[in-house]
Amino acid sequence: MGLMARIMGLATITGNQNAASQHKMSQQTTITLPPTAQGIAQAADILRRGGLVAFATETVYGLGADARDAGAVAAIYQAKGRPSFNPLIVHVPDIAQAQHFADWGDQAQALARRFWPGPLTLVLPLRKGHGLSSLVTAGLDTVAIRVPAHPLARQLLQAFGGPVAAPSANPSGRISPTTAAHVHQGLDGKIAAILDAGPCQVGLESTIIGFTPRPVLLRAGGVPTEQIEATLGGLSLTRPTGDEITAPGMLSSHYAPQARMRLNAQKAAPGEVLLGFGAMPCDLNLSATGDLGEAAANLFDHLHSLDKLGRPIAVAPVPWDGLGAAINDRLQRAAAPR
Ligand code: TXA
Ligand code: MG
Repeated sequence: MGLMARIMGLATITGNQNAASQHKMSQQTTITLPPTAQGIAQAADILRRGGLVAFATETVYGLGADARDAGAVAAIYQAKGRPSFNPLIVHVPDIAQAQHFADWGDQAQALARRFWPGPLTLVLPLRKGHGLSSLVTAGLDTVAIRVPAHPLARQLLQAFGGPVAAPSANPSGRISPTTAAHVHQGLDGKIAAILDAGPCQVGLESTIIGFTPRPVLLRAGGVPTEQIEATLGGLSLTRPTGDEITAPGMLSSHYAPQARMRLNAQKAAPGEVLLGFGAMPCDLNLSATGDLGEAAANLFDHLHSLDKLGRPIAVAPVPWDGLGAAINDRLQRAAAPR
């Protein structure tokens, strides 16, 4: 942290009560907290006072608020400029806590056992007496729940001791954040703090599974669909086509850079920058060796970087297997007409 940021940070630490309790104010000083015991304690404290804290998870940075506090949850929608019909994921430290908020079947249990903590979200019927703000579920009778794997997220959830509602920490519709710098770019002045733990390892949002009561894939993500299917005894899930809106948040234009995007490009047209995949000449490469895990981890960061150049972005073809399905889903939405 630079000296100026440090001084500003300290100034707000003392004035923190202020920042948190006035979370409805649109302008505040956003401080960066280190991933230390003290930083985590301070982040938990801000959450307790109804403030907003962005924090690292293994997928993307989340923008957290106390999921039981309607004012705090409303502030998330406000900071992101998010349409109010789009419900949020509730983050908890373990399965036992998740069971306070939702009703469970055997298939949900099997998936939770296999993939939690990790990049999987389950959409389940709300349990009676759940205590969550109805703004979290946007009035639905189901709730999306996830137990993140990132040690920092886990420590924050434990220190806070309650459910944390957290969408990705980006302005609504824009590229998701995989570093604290991305969060600053999008939300500086609109949130109390960012708990910085470096770049996210997975780099794609969680896979979302709903139950109707048959399991359905609502969003491809960090756990490849094939692994979900194998855990459910080899049944095959219907894949979202990219056109339909499955999760309410799956608007077709999403994850969008400012620049125009063109997919499945073999090379850059004049004026374009090229985002490559596999060994090829390009401006930035998702993975020169064609590794889909590496490509997922680089995806949003590379889009943020190329977007800064202010030129149209051409993207090389990415295979659809494994994490490739989720990468292609995000690319299609980023390139969708808006
Ligand atoms: O990896 C992730 O999932 C990240 C990190 C921060 O955990 N979070 C994230 O949240 O991607 P967000 O808000 O960007 O995406 C949540 C998605 C939205 O598409 C929303 O519509 C859907 O989950 N969702 C939430 N509650 C739902 C519900 N009850 N039924 C169906 N979809 C739901
Ligand atoms: Mg998002």
